[in-house]
Amino acid sequence: MILVTGATGTIGGEVVQLLTGRGEPVRAMTRNPARATLPAGVEVVRGDFDDPESLAKAATGVEALFLLDAPGPWIAQHDRAMLAAARAAGVRRVVKLSAIGTGEQAAKVGDWHLPGEQELGSSDAEWTVLRPSSFASNALRWAPAIRAGQPIPNPNGTGMQGIVDPRDVAEVAVRTLLSEEHVGQVLTLTGPELLSVPELAVRLGEVLGRTVATVDVSLDAYRERMLAGGLDPVFVEIAVNGAKLVEEGGNAQLTDEVAQVLGRPPRTFAVWAYDHRDAFAG
Ligand SMILES: NC(=O)c1ccc[n+]([C@@H]2O[C@H](COP(=O)([O-])OP(=O)(O)OC[C@H]3O[C@@H](n4cnc5c(N)ncnc54)[C@H](OP(=O)(O)O)[C@@H]3O)[C@@H](O)[C@H]2O)c1
Repeated sequence: MILVTGATGTIGGEVVQLLTGRGEPVRAMTRNPARATLPAGVEVVRGDFDDPESLAKAATGVEALFLLDAPGPWIAQHDRAMLAAARAAGVRRVVKLSAIGTGEQAAKVGDWHLPGEQELGSSDAEWTVLRPSSFASNALRWAPAIRAGQPIPNPNGTGMQGIVDPRDVAEVAVRTLLSEEHVGQVLTLTGPELLSVPELAVRLGEVLGRTVATVDVSLDAYRERMLAGGLDPVFVEIAVNGAKLVEEGGNAQLTDEVAQVLGRPPRTFAVWAYDHRDAFAG
């Protein structure tokens, strides 16, 4: 049995689909089973990282765990709780979804995933850590602006990132859950090319057949906009520092680790944009 946490989200949802398609036994964890839409044949379990009893039940009889936390300063605490439950239940293999730059950019963007990575690294589990770059699906937050014909707000200047397709991240996760080959490895997962926000806008425009513009937003304006939207100030500061890091070229990194694991090149942003064009077309 493979326990997938974050099963209703971007990466976890893909992981569940891929495992189910291969006929693997899957238990999908969500805080609200009644609201979750999951493929037929998947065992759905209620689990909340803030409720240790629910985690103990979710981990019972599990052989491999896909550990994914919602982004936020609670990640270390949530990892600790889930790993304790996994250890108590004798879960043999753990694949943790982390983030690019973990352990390297602490001063700038916090290190939400580092304690969980460290705990896993010193455990007896067969572990793999996945550190993806920025997801292509983050572009979906621009969909309302694009549908309304408005420019995309850009706090990153011309800073570039190795935007990765969530489907590739999920495929790597599935490989590492099912094979011993990547046990003990930390894999940094990027797409095939470095792209800035204006370049992403050009690619979206090519897919949609019209111009998609960007408008530069200062980091102060970015901060004000998030605070006005009611976001937690701790979260906002980390997001601002993350944008600054990207603007300064601090996340301009490409690796070939997706290709090494999957035996094919990673998908381009253009392919992701084409496959999701309906979300932007209105
Ligand atoms: N976005 C990026 O560019 C990027 C890049 C690198 C790394 N990451 C990492 O990727 C992760 C986010 O992945 P994602 O975008 O696939 O997530 P997502 O779509 O935001 O989904 C979050 C998932 O977490 C579950 N969840 C939330 N609170 C929970 C709790 N208290 N207990 C149990 N489950 C809970 C939700 O399930 P229910 O609501 O059904 O309970 C949902 O399935 C973060 O750890 C982030 O650091 C993101």
